[in-house]
Amino acid sequence: MSNPHFKSELPGPKARAMLARDLPVASPSYPRDYPFVMSHGRGTEVWDVDGNRFLDFMSGIAVCSTGHAHPRVVAAVKDAADKFLHISSDYWHENMTGLTERLAEVAPMGEPVMSFLCQSGTESVEGAIKLARYVTGRPRYIGFLGSFHGRTMGSLAFTSSKYTQQKGFAPAMPGVTHVPYPNPYRPLFAGADQGKAVLDYIRMLFERNVPASEVAAIMIEPLQGEGGYLVPPDGFLAGLRALCDEHGILLIFDEVQSGVGRTGRMFCCEHSGVKPDILTSAKGLGSGLPIGAVIAKRRLMEQWKRGAHGNTFGGNPLSCAAAIATLDLVRSEYMANAARVGEYFMAQLRQLQQSYRCIGEVRGRGLMIGMELIENDAERTPARALCDRLVTRGYYNGLLLLSCGVSTLRFMPPLSVSTAEVDEAVRLLRVALDEALQGKAG
Ligand SMILES: Cc1ncc(COP(=O)(O)O)c(C=O)c1O
Repeated sequence: MSNPHFKSELPGPKARAMLARDLPVASPSYPRDYPFVMSHGRGTEVWDVDGNRFLDFMSGIAVCSTGHAHPRVVAAVKDAADKFLHISSDYWHENMTGLTERLAEVAPMGEPVMSFLCQSGTESVEGAIKLARYVTGRPRYIGFLGSFHGRTMGSLAFTSSKYTQQKGFAPAMPGVTHVPYPNPYRPLFAGADQGKAVLDYIRMLFERNVPASEVAAIMIEPLQGEGGYLVPPDGFLAGLRALCDEHGILLIFDEVQSGVGRTGRMFCCEHSGVKPDILTSAKGLGSGLPIGAVIAKRRLMEQWKRGAHGNTFGGNPLSCAAAIATLDLVRSEYMANAARVGEYFMAQLRQLQQSYRCIGEVRGRGLMIGMELIENDAERTPARALCDRLVTRGYYNGLLLLSCGVSTLRFMPPLSVSTAEVDEAVRLLRVALDEALQGKAG
């Protein structure tokens, strides 16, 4: 046992006992990569039930934006819990109105917005696609290959990052046509400008197959998440905006993963200056409390008639309290930290790339960073098995990681992460990489 923070072999006896209890009673559909059984966490550090300490560089899938158990978030939740646990979104309370006011302040639309609160990313996407259909009266949508938007039947119709998300569930909601997400590292089209090529492809689609006048919305992640942490080429989102404006189509940015400071700006689309009509948020918004939001231009959302869309748990007081505390922390310090430490982290990974030919590319923004793993060849063949082994070896070395796309390792630590923690993570990553390259798996 080389890691001084480990108290047992991995997984330890308590973790193994939990896995054995869980096996017969929990759904086998959870895509679990390694046997981490959580006890507690603080900031970027988490401990398992056997007392082993890990660095969390996946933040509960990009959720623990302010780190684990941030005292201000915990205090806000406790304070809310002392007052009441639920009243439903059909009534009013301070935390719900306070949160929608804050969302109106940070929204990137450049004009007044309204918000609809829910509990998860997929529900925020459902709300967005319902709103787009409601206000345009149009039945079709454009989505992007490699996207992940959720697993309920509407969002699932757009989701296309892995076939396992679709297999056995067809048909989902009809009317969605997928187009490629521009990927300069693995270009699908001829020419240097993959963004322009995709825009031309959509134009061709409009002429031949999908009447633009029937399209309610184009939905896109401004930095593709589960599909491989792809940063779109400069000008692409602006081109999409222009295309939407030309045809009266709404532009939806799904910022469930890329939003709330993760990329060093409150919302990722701010890097491009492109303003969506509707934006979805969830994950990091509540620092771990379940919450989602559909944020839309007021002139769109105000068209929803009473009862057109609603829910029981939206605006939950504990989730709203957590989200208010999160937004305040992100605005005052963590957004800037994500930009600063993200740049440092990216530089460290690019340095690592100099010593490892299997690292094909390091890309991302702020603390949403992907490391593309390739076989040692000129074709940039995805090193899928190596990526899987690396995620596993990360765990055995004390570093919690996740992959995305085909062979991309993704890093999404809490926005509060320090450069010292990044240094430690890069040290652990180097060990894990060496082991994974030697073929070591579990
Ligand atoms: C961009 C994006 N949209 C939507 C979702 C769905 O969120 P949830 O799992 O909370 O339903 C995710 C989850 O990974 C996501 O990354």
